[in-house]
Amino acid sequence: MEVFKSIAKTSSSFFVVCILLLFANAASEKTHYHDFVIQATPVKRLCNTRNTITVNGQFPGPTLEVNNGDTLVVNVVNRAQYNVTIHWHGVRQIRTGWADGPEFITQCPIRPGKSYTYRFTMQGQEGTLWWHAHSSWLRATVYGALIIHPKAGESYPFPTPKRETPVLLGEWWNANPIDVVRQATRTGAAPNVSDAYTINGQPGDLYKCSSQDITIIHVDSGETNLLRVVNAGLNQQLFFTVANHKLTVVGADANYVKPFTTSVLMLGPGQTTDVLIKADQPAARYYMAARAYASAQGAPFDNTTTTAILEYQTSCSSNCAKTNPVFPSLPAYNDTATATAFTTKFRSPRKAQVPTEIDENLFVTVGLGLENCPSGASSSSCQGPNGTRFAASMNNVSFVLPSNFSLLQAHHQGIHGVFSTDFPANPPVKFDYTGNVSRSLWQPIRGTKLYKLTYGARVQVVLQGTGIFTAENHPIHLHGYDFYIIAEGFGNFNPKSDTAKFNLVDPPLRNTASVPVNGWTVIRFVADNPGVWLMHCHLDVHITWGLAMAFLVENGVSELESLEAPPEDFPVC
Ligand code: C2O
Repeated sequence: MEVFKSIAKTSSSFFVVCILLLFANAASEKTHYHDFVIQATPVKRLCNTRNTITVNGQFPGPTLEVNNGDTLVVNVVNRAQYNVTIHWHGVRQIRTGWADGPEFITQCPIRPGKSYTYRFTMQGQEGTLWWHAHSSWLRATVYGALIIHPKAGESYPFPTPKRETPVLLGEWWNANPIDVVRQATRTGAAPNVSDAYTINGQPGDLYKCSSQDITIIHVDSGETNLLRVVNAGLNQQLFFTVANHKLTVVGADANYVKPFTTSVLMLGPGQTTDVLIKADQPAARYYMAARAYASAQGAPFDNTTTTAILEYQTSCSSNCAKTNPVFPSLPAYNDTATATAFTTKFRSPRKAQVPTEIDENLFVTVGLGLENCPSGASSSSCQGPNGTRFAASMNNVSFVLPSNFSLLQAHHQGIHGVFSTDFPANPPVKFDYTGNVSRSLWQPIRGTKLYKLTYGARVQVVLQGTGIFTAENHPIHLHGYDFYIIAEGFGNFNPKSDTAKFNLVDPPLRNTASVPVNGWTVIRFVADNPGVWLMHCHLDVHITWGLAMAFLVENGVSELESLEAPPEDFPVC
């Protein structure tokens, strides 16, 4: 009897504790409210002041910090003269595709004077993501960091860093970036390259009129700090390094990785890399620097270098401010070996849940193309190579955005004629993708073609770069998902021999893959998030030319496997 009583007592107090824990947990999951006012703001860079589209007058925009499990509610008010949308790059948006942001894919743009509230919950992602405009080239200046800390009471899988600093790498044009892309679209030629790269919005000491405002990041001797590096640039993969300091990579695209040490990072636009840096050098000032990894032979690129200063704070306040910072060595612009050595080092921390059986196996070419001058068009609109217009495609389809409905709305409401679901699972013709491609294969067709996936399908995509016009590295980003990168290589993917290279044990989980120049990357994911999800090259110049496609993932059976209803203030076209 006594025994029974005490069991009853323990189990009831156990019950109470459980309830309390439940509440504590629910209470620790917060909702964060933000207002983003999109507005033109004068910003001075490289000796010139230009009216720049910003969020809340800030450039870069505000850093958002949340914990895993929290909800973000961001009311975006458009006070600019352009259409705008905001994309939460890398956020899975499980069942909330309406909040993903790419214009004409998941929503119509927010028109000038209008507003829209993005509402979504972080589920299982920890580390660094970012947000950016997903409308024309507005993301050149409309971007910021999105930092996701572990759940309250949980910690990083590495010693807690003393300080944490976002390091946003960007690209700056003296001209209005919207004018730059509009001119390119008018002429069919390649758009102008940027005038500077930036670190947290500042070009740094190697540019005119920029030394005063160079970004300074403080450390103190002996500290280990976390740098959250984001390539928010538009059109350029970047090498990043810090003079005399080793970097320990601990995460990428809001997923932890097996730590590894390197002296240089390579990030394609869209990618993030979290690194620990130990202040173990003599107290002084050291440059951190970024410049192009330019893999396309002969193509023009911005060959400037941006810098910021890592300054040992208390130990060196007055004296070392007078000394010149130590300058790092950076890889050559075309150093593909260094880029590859870096991208192939990534591993998941432990055995990963990679699908081993595959339901949908796609082989998708990614590359450029040239469109013959449309009949009747004036030669001024065909200023690409040999009187053509630049184009780009996936499996020879150059993606065209709809204009009356977003794809997600058309799908959800069963509106016909907005898209078709015949995106080819294989290239229409097989050819030597990375060899000397016959001119007859350079011209893509145009279309708004989606690829349909049933809920839960296990998907493999071989992303095969092509040598059409010029081979180059492509940062391929998939919305709504993280995928495992199970292999990459050079040349043409060979299903007979290259499957032996598949890492099905601990491949990294990412949202943006660097497809090597003249090479291929294989990714896998489970289609467990219903909606319409864009997959595209994150070089904005390439998405402008059509290097994109979209997956249509159908609802599953239960409500929890189905897309939510659109919010009430959802913008219509
Ligand atoms: Cu970071 Cu479709 O974008």
